[in-house]
Amino acid sequence: MGFNRKYMTCTPSDWNNVDEWNDYFRDRISNEERPDDGLNLFSLEEIKGVAQGLRDQGVKTIWVPGCGLSLLPSVFAGLGFDVFATDASSVAVAHQDSRNFDLSCYEGLKVEAGFVAETHDLRNMYRSSEIDLILNVKAFQRFKVEEMEKVAKTHFTALRGKEAIFSTLNCQGSDRDKVEDSLSKAGFFIPFIDIERSFRSELKETGIPYALVLGRPIVPQVDENGKSVELWHDEVWRQSSKKTLLSIYESYMKNKNEAQQSQLEIFSLPETKFANIIYNTG
Ligand SMILES: C[S@@+](CC[C@H](N)C(=O)[O-])C[C@H]1O[C@@H](n2cnc3c(N)ncnc32)[C@H](O)[C@@H]1O
Repeated sequence: MGFNRKYMTCTPSDWNNVDEWNDYFRDRISNEERPDDGLNLFSLEEIKGVAQGLRDQGVKTIWVPGCGLSLLPSVFAGLGFDVFATDASSVAVAHQDSRNFDLSCYEGLKVEAGFVAETHDLRNMYRSSEIDLILNVKAFQRFKVEEMEKVAKTHFTALRGKEAIFSTLNCQGSDRDKVEDSLSKAGFFIPFIDIERSFRSELKETGIPYALVLGRPIVPQVDENGKSVELWHDEVWRQSSKKTLLSIYESYMKNKNEAQQSQLEIFSLPETKFANIIYNTG
């Protein structure tokens, strides 16, 4: 799947190979000066404001599934939340539990009570209705489709609060459909899902290779299968393709604006659990 910058340690090609995940993390912990993967979702500057906002919404318990070496569990525990950090990798969990992360840039944060690190396989249920907020960073999209539905259900069942965040990386085209289908089958509300789906299928029907960057379609130099887009250097083709994509984007935005009120009404229902899917490119 990828290479560690310094030590060329591979993350597993088989997502479920726990031994390989353990080797990967063991290598990083012993070789990297600061073995952590940061906060991903929030910047250092905004984290305290985010925490205050969550407290105001009544969030007390946060679950970070597939936590790896993320700093999210320690930082949120340091900010006073009850945090559950779980991972299939016992090496990652032991590192989370050791609280050996360098938190010097998060002035005044000290992780004390309210922090549980434990091994857990996301294909099995976890803490039914105990969690106010789930922060899943890059620990969802790589499951096989048939497992993804189970994993989605695990998140849905654990959540007693309103929101589960799923931060994905380079998830394009049909991979987005798989992520959204499994989350909605599990019971999650995904705002504007129908509009998003018809937007993507309209884009696909054009036959123009596209990628969505920050929600907008662009004509990429390389398509989703990693192949060069030959026509990309043809200025006339590129300009006309951009124009086509833009016009689809504009009508999509218009549809979204019109649906805003109805989506807000569903969101506000007490029983609604909302999957906030973040599509990052990198
Ligand atoms: C790409 S890493 C992301 C780690 C971390 N969330 C971050 O932000 O860097 C994926 C993580 O999912 C974990 N994982 C893989 N399969 C899992 C499973 N079946 N149950 C729970 N965690 C799993 C891996 O051990 C790894 O820590």
